[in-house]
Amino acid sequence: MSCRWSRVAALLAVVTVICFATAQATFLPAGVRYEEIECDIVVAGGSTAALAASLAAARTAPEKRICLLESTNWPGGQLTSSAVSAVDFGTHNDFAAMVASLPGNPGKCWVSHWCYEPADLLHKWIFPTINQTKNLRVFYNTVVKKAYTAKGPHGDEVKSILAVQRVPKEENEAWRNRLSEDLLDWYSLYESKTFNKKALHFSAPLFIEATEFGDLLVTADAPFAQGIEYPYEDDYTTLDCGQTHVFPLYMSIEKEPVKQPHFPPPPRGISYEIPSQFSWGRIWSYRRSIGLEGPENEARIGETSNQNWGPPPGNDYNLGYLYLPTQEVKAQAKNWHGGINMTSLADAELTAFGWYTYYSQQCNKTQKPEVCARVALAASVAGTDLGLSKVPYLRESRRSIGIHNFRLMYENMTSHVNPTGVVFADRVAIGEYFYADIHHMADGLCKYPAYLGDRSIKPYYVPFRALTNRDFGNMLVAGKTMAQTFKANAATRLHPVEWTTGLAAGVAAALMSTHSIPTTTQLYENNIKLLQETISTQAPLQWTL
Ligand SMILES: *[C@@H]1O[C@H](CO)[C@@H](O)[C@H](O)[C@H]1NC(C)=O
Ligand SMILES: *[C@@H]1O[C@H](CO)[C@@H](O)[C@H](O)[C@H]1NC(C)=O
Ligand SMILES: *[C@@H]1O[C@H](CO)[C@@H](O)[C@H](O)[C@H]1NC(C)=O
Ligand SMILES: *[C@@H]1O[C@H](CO)[C@@H](O)[C@H](O)[C@H]1NC(C)=O
Repeated sequence: MSCRWSRVAALLAVVTVICFATAQATFLPAGVRYEEIECDIVVAGGSTAALAASLAAARTAPEKRICLLESTNWPGGQLTSSAVSAVDFGTHNDFAAMVASLPGNPGKCWVSHWCYEPADLLHKWIFPTINQTKNLRVFYNTVVKKAYTAKGPHGDEVKSILAVQRVPKEENEAWRNRLSEDLLDWYSLYESKTFNKKALHFSAPLFIEATEFGDLLVTADAPFAQGIEYPYEDDYTTLDCGQTHVFPLYMSIEKEPVKQPHFPPPPRGISYEIPSQFSWGRIWSYRRSIGLEGPENEARIGETSNQNWGPPPGNDYNLGYLYLPTQEVKAQAKNWHGGINMTSLADAELTAFGWYTYYSQQCNKTQKPEVCARVALAASVAGTDLGLSKVPYLRESRRSIGIHNFRLMYENMTSHVNPTGVVFADRVAIGEYFYADIHHMADGLCKYPAYLGDRSIKPYYVPFRALTNRDFGNMLVAGKTMAQTFKANAATRLHPVEWTTGLAAGVAAALMSTHSIPTTTQLYENNIKLLQETISTQAPLQWTL
């Protein structure tokens, strides 16, 4: 049996060939079983941007095979698996079809005008939409282990990705543990106590990097940055610190009294408090996911509330940076495991459990005793056994450096005189938020430079160059991995902008595929009009203010 792809004319479905690693397949220990999968566009996913990119690419090029590698079983990133089910709209933005799938504001929350339970969005919109998209194949529970690159006629190219797909050994075992117990296993090719593993080898002419941890950027040895540009925004040196991360969770008021779970204590240095300007009920309704009629500031039986409260004294974890230092990240690329500081990951989990315990114990200060007796950690709403989100909510990732060293910068998103930021000639997405939103780590842990002080932004435009990588002409980036500075990311990291930039990257990849445009530089130089026209049939591309 040949383990090279043999082309089958007019075959739309993604064909997989089972192979065994041989001396030629240098990427795997000999004898390991792997599958060869050939696609036209591979989306390295896990984020909100990845879902948008996959759907847009599939819609734009219906005859091309799109493969999405989804790190969890819940596509959607912060919309679902990271449990930020209170969408961070600015004042102008919407993503209409999805929002319309859950009409109104199911949570009657007040941080947003749209709060919901992830499973509702998954079952009403995300899964049906994926299912109707015949040329999109989603590989669930799959992460990028390694990228293979080569010099091609147009410069460096990503040729293929080796990915690890985990298959739980027992039904319902997949989400039994804390992520900090399982994450290294997710990236291991070897069978573990919990998972059987499948090695998947994806080849394609085009790749979109929209992972949460920048897996493709790092493993391809592409230029990237993490942390804060220092001392000025236009520097290429960075500090290995930045935004906080958090494990959101859900709480419910059950029909019957509940026995409370016991968790290990929070990390040293964490203490909780309900700030005096907020009441228990205000925090309950802040990101409430199911809201029933009744008096304000009262929790009711049948409601659920998303807890993502901070910066501390809530569950937002501010005592350690999620990412390993850049040098260690680069050193890990040979045997990639996400480049995560496992202490910071585990401590964020404990901080979230601690918040649940503290907050539930405060209930009876202002709420009815029969309600407080029924307060529960609503694990099933998060889709895990222990009740925390499947993956943490990240406010930053590893970021690409674009063609011609382009990075979107804060100055391009603000203006003292104009109603919008810079109107780039190569604009491919719009975005908007109240400000560049930075959740600071605890005092003394990060030397936040002075230029981060002024953070107001205007409705802005994202140029195509922000969706590129300087060294790899067949790689697009979207969402938090875009070519942008830390400060710019603080303004673009919200769900709607992940969506618009993901969509733009998906359309760009589709056009590169159907029009045989070999590199992002060539698209930038010759095809921006076509790209803009195609995007504007799928999403707004112009601010009308
Ligand atoms: C989508 O398809 C999957 C199988 O691929 C199936 O399990 C699921 O029920 C479908 N969901 C919807 C909403 O159609
Ligand atoms: C990981 O983070 C902890 C704090 O959460 C810190 O003390 C430790 O030095 C970090 N480790 C590395 C290798 O950066
Ligand atoms: C309120 O809850 C705390 C913690 O569960 C408990 O110690 C206390 O007795 C409760 N108070 C009332 C009035 O129920
Ligand atoms: C974007 O901002 C940077 C930093 O201020 C600036 O150098 C650059 O000229 C701006 N780009 C445009 C198109 O105005």
